[in-house]
Amino acid sequence: MQFDFATLDTAHRYKVLASTVVPRPIAWVTTLSAAGVANAAPYSFFNVMGSQPPIVALGLLARGDGSLKDTAANIIQGGEFVVHLVSEPLAQAMNLTCIDAPPGVDEIALAGLATTPSLRVAPPRLADAPVAFECISRAAIATGPSQVLVVGEVLMAHIQDDAVIDAARCHFATERLGLVARMHGAGWYDRAGTDMFQMDRPAWADHIAPQDTGHSKEPAR
Ligand SMILES: Cc1cc2nc3c(=O)[nH]c(=O)nc-3n(C[C@H](O)[C@H](O)[C@H](O)COP(=O)(O)O)c2cc1C
Repeated sequence: MQFDFATLDTAHRYKVLASTVVPRPIAWVTTLSAAGVANAAPYSFFNVMGSQPPIVALGLLARGDGSLKDTAANIIQGGEFVVHLVSEPLAQAMNLTCIDAPPGVDEIALAGLATTPSLRVAPPRLADAPVAFECISRAAIATGPSQVLVVGEVLMAHIQDDAVIDAARCHFATERLGLVARMHGAGWYDRAGTDMFQMDRPAWADHIAPQDTGHSKEPAR
C-alpha cells in the first residue's frame, strides 16, 4: 500500500514516519533561555550524523499553535545545548518534561531532576542521565514553518562510570546504560539492546573473492 505525502495532512504524515522509523533514540535536551532559565525536553527525531567532527542532529517540529518549541528558540538564540540519553529509571521524568505546562513552570524541577554545571557549554547537565553530550550548534536549518533541523557538534561526553570498561580504548558496556528508545504510536517505548542478534561484517577479500589479491580491506566504520 502506498501513502502519497501530497495527499496526507500533517498528523498523518507524522504517523507514517514515526510509526515506521523505529526504534528511535531519545535526545533529552537541556538548553538555556535568553533570560537564563534552564529547559529540558525529549526529542526522538535524533541521531549521530558524523564523527569527524562528531555531529548530532535534532528534528524540532513546530508547536501545535505554529510557534517554535522552547528548545528550538533557545538553541537558535544561545547556540548551545546538552543531549542526554534516557535510561529506564529516568523514563517517567523524561516523559514529564514534555508536558504542556503553562509558561513559567520549571519542568526540570517538576520532574524532580538534579542538574549540574556543564564543562564546555552554558546549559546545565542532568546529573543522573547515563550519557550526556555537551554540544554547540553548527547549523539551525529551517525545514518548515517553525520546524528546525539542528546540527550540533559534540564537545564533551559524560558516560556513567560503571558502563566504562576501558577508558583509554573507549570500550563501553552499552547494556549497562539501560537505555530506552521511542517506538510507534502514542506512548510506546523499547528497552534498547534486550533482544539482540549478531552478524559479522563481511569483507570482500575474506568471503567473496579470496583469490582476488587486488582488493584491500577498508577500515570498518
Ligand atoms: C519520547 C518523546 C520524543 C519526542 N520527540 C520529539 C521530536 O523528535 N520532535 C519534536 O518536535 N517533539 C518531540 N517530542 C515532543 C516534545 O518533547 C514536546 O513538544 C515538548 O513539550 C517540547 O518542549 P520545549 O518547548 O521545552 O522544547 C517528543 C516527546 C516525547 C515524550
